[in-house]
Amino acid sequence: MPSFKTTRFDKTTLALATGLVAAIGMTSAQAGEVEVLHWWTSGGEARAANVLKELMEAEGHDWQDFAVAGGGGETAMTVLKSRAMSGNPPSAAQIKGPEIQEWGELGLLGDLDTVAEAEDWNGLLPETVAEIMRHDGQYVAVPVNVHRVNWLWANPEVLDAAGVAMPTTLDELFEVAEAIREAGYVPLAHGGQAWQDATVFESVLLASGGSEFYRRALVDLDPEALGSPTMIEALTTFKRLRELMDDDMPGRDWNIATSMVIGGDAAMQLMGDWAKGEFTAAGLTAGEDYLCAAAPGTGDAFTFNIDSLAMFRVTEEAEREAQQALARLVLEPTFQEAFNLAKGSIPARPDLDMSDFDSCARQSLADFQHTAEAGGLVPSMAHGMAVRADVQGAIFDVVTNYFNSRDMAAEEAARRMVTAAQAAI
Ligand code: GAL
Repeated sequence: MPSFKTTRFDKTTLALATGLVAAIGMTSAQAGEVEVLHWWTSGGEARAANVLKELMEAEGHDWQDFAVAGGGGETAMTVLKSRAMSGNPPSAAQIKGPEIQEWGELGLLGDLDTVAEAEDWNGLLPETVAEIMRHDGQYVAVPVNVHRVNWLWANPEVLDAAGVAMPTTLDELFEVAEAIREAGYVPLAHGGQAWQDATVFESVLLASGGSEFYRRALVDLDPEALGSPTMIEALTTFKRLRELMDDDMPGRDWNIATSMVIGGDAAMQLMGDWAKGEFTAAGLTAGEDYLCAAAPGTGDAFTFNIDSLAMFRVTEEAEREAQQALARLVLEPTFQEAFNLAKGSIPARPDLDMSDFDSCARQSLADFQHTAEAGGLVPSMAHGMAVRADVQGAIFDVVTNYFNSRDMAAEEAARRMVTAAQAAI
């Protein structure tokens, strides 16, 4: 039968051709191993990380997963420091914001300029994003996404049961919370960990003082702003939010808090849009099964948190090839789309078709773009984008001690905030 013969012939040709392509591929790029340190271990995060692993493996590289659990990445950074100190850093690591500069200053990062030039990263990336990825004018890291931190997530069935709508101001938040509590639900799901406290705090500060004040206080560390009446007001409101949370919050992971909203035990959560990755992983649809809105009182203001992978200097050519492949793949449309759909963030490159993204992601992109044009984007302090790790740690201590203290006044916390920023400078 001629058609059968043709099929066999086609298969053989295909196999030969594939072999040939693979052989040619091997001469132009060596397959190597890349060990990647990250803290993407929740359901949504792991799905997203897997996209990169699969793309690397499809190009013949080996992916060594170095996942260190712990939201916000503090544990991952501690592990990274000890690996680097023993002279054995992984080839790639999730390092963000000003910390990229700290690692660059130690002379430990390898440069990505060849791939950056070949792929025209300068033309592709918004300058706000690109400048964070360069050290001494050279690309040393590649951005995977843009997360927005100032979000509120909600379960619409719980809101309905309490007869309330999504709050848009802080006053409304306290009002709806009362009705939600009376209807028998936890108003605000939260995990009592320093970075989660700081995540909530910075959104309240943004609502209380606006982007300009946020910048003065948490980016410029202006002592006048840190000790100001606006800061005291923000701290007072932040502490009141405790009343909307449940008693079991100490130590709870952020994704467990999200699952309380998914499961209908709690109404809302204040968290960055990696929380959307959890809703997505649970098969839920934005705008129907769950709601998103800017954190109450923050409107179209935008605290950004850009995840990036920095590359450590390596000696073997195959390893270098694998790093370059990783960096290239990260900014390619296939990865940017699949990863960010799973992760809850928006792509790091603004030129992609967003039609497969949900309403929350599209709102995030629109707010990112016009806030950027108006010069109002602010980096997230809680997520290592605003200040160096030592300053961030000192601010975390003040925020979390105040949040958990029975008797510390907001005035005292503001004073400590000033001292924390000064001590760290
Ligand atoms: C952020 C990170 C996100 C997400 C979150 C929770 O700092 O940028 O990608 O992982 O922590 O772990």
